[in-house]
Amino acid sequence: MILNEDEMNAYGRKLGRSLVPGTVIALVGDLGAGKTTLSKAIAEGLGVTECVTSPTFTILCEYRTGRLPLFHFDVYRLDDPEEMENIGYEDYFYGNGVTIVEWADKIEELLPKDAIVIRIDSGKNPWERSLTAPSIAE
Ligand SMILES: Nc1ncnc2c1ncn2[C@@H]1O[C@H](COP(=O)(O)OP(=O)(O)O)[C@@H](O)[C@H]1O
Ligand SMILES: [Mg+2]
Repeated sequence: MILNEDEMNAYGRKLGRSLVPGTVIALVGDLGAGKTTLSKAIAEGLGVTECVTSPTFTILCEYRTGRLPLFHFDVYRLDDPEEMENIGYEDYFYGNGVTIVEWADKIEELLPKDAIVIRIDSGKNPWERSLTAPSIAE
């Protein structure tokens, strides 16, 4: 899928509307690929816009007021996957909310087998991104 930013946001919102409890979305792509942009669009689709930064963990931001709780991890600065253990990641990944992980390839071994993996690569033009992702029925 080749998407401009509007199409990326539309895809994210549609994905957000379709999500069921217990889903983990693994976002993979370089700095500036559009992982945060897509995360915000997914949040919008779930009916939330503002995340509340966790007082204890800087890599986790929680959205609590939507259709489902949303846990947004950005593991870019994670030095050791063991830190995820300290956060108690399993409660989030295998709970009743939705989890989004930016830089998911850094914690690949911790991802559930059924995680939705979305890869964002640069496109031909600066405003385009190539998305390797499941299509969403609606
Ligand atoms: N098609 C596109 N999809 C998503 N973002 C795009 C697109 N084209 C340009 N951009 C821009 O690319 C940047 C992506 O930044 P961000 O979402 O923070 O990336 P990441 O979280 O992957 O580092 C934003 O400034 C956004 O406006
Ligand atoms: Mg980001």
